[in-house]
Amino acid sequence: MRKKVIAANWKMNKTSDETRDFFHNFLPLVEGHDRDEIVVCPPYTSVDAALACSKGSNVAIGVQNVHWKAEGAYTGEISAPMLLCLGVKHVIIGHSERRQYFGETDDTVNLRLKTALEAGLTPICCVGEVLEEREAGLTDDVLRRQCVRAFHAISSKKAAKLVVAYEPVWAIGTGKTATPELAAEAHAVIRREAAEVFGEEFAANLRILYGGSVKPDNASSLMAQEEIDGALVGGASLDPKSLAAIVKY
Ligand code: 13P
Repeated sequence: MRKKVIAANWKMNKTSDETRDFFHNFLPLVEGHDRDEIVVCPPYTSVDAALACSKGSNVAIGVQNVHWKAEGAYTGEISAPMLLCLGVKHVIIGHSERRQYFGETDDTVNLRLKTALEAGLTPICCVGEVLEEREAGLTDDVLRRQCVRAFHAISSKKAAKLVVAYEPVWAIGTGKTATPELAAEAHAVIRREAAEVFGEEFAANLRILYGGSVKPDNASSLMAQEEIDGALVGGASLDPKSLAAIVKY
């Protein structure tokens, strides 16, 4: 049985004060919940507050990116040793917004993924097609390409902590959710690709999250799919009650 992960991607939202408020309200709602892993990924400036608030709780803290160098002249970047020193455990890699707006490529996703895995962080590696690709019938090809390139030159042993998130770009922030069946089909493509690269056993244990307009009212039908091992939640994760409702789908 794969333990599900409900991960919150706050994107560029919440100051440290707002983060403290969030945890004050959120933690009592999910206290003692151990059916799923809960991960909250605030912006870097709120990580310290999030770690302090969640200490001793069942909520882990992650971030939204990591650079592949340990240190150096890379203005505006954050390295894996910096994250480890803080106590961060998870990192989102290759989110479509990084690919769309900040020049992220399949190759830089691979570099970041290797670095995160080597550092012992749990990467949540995002893949997903844009609307034109889906409409052109290219979804499977895109997912396969993104996975092959992201996983390039990583051994199954190194990849042990890998988590993948399927986030169809057309479903992000649009209120359009992939149907559970359609998401499950995409997950199966990703799992097959992971089997090609890392082997059947690895793929059978790989957790693949769905992201894209997950809300309290659609979480349970998505999570009911055997292929779907959790959610990566954007907008609906900003409100403590709504994230708690998703956690308790
Ligand atoms: P929404 O839940 O706001 O659609 O965002 C999904 C997402 O991008 C999570 O990483």
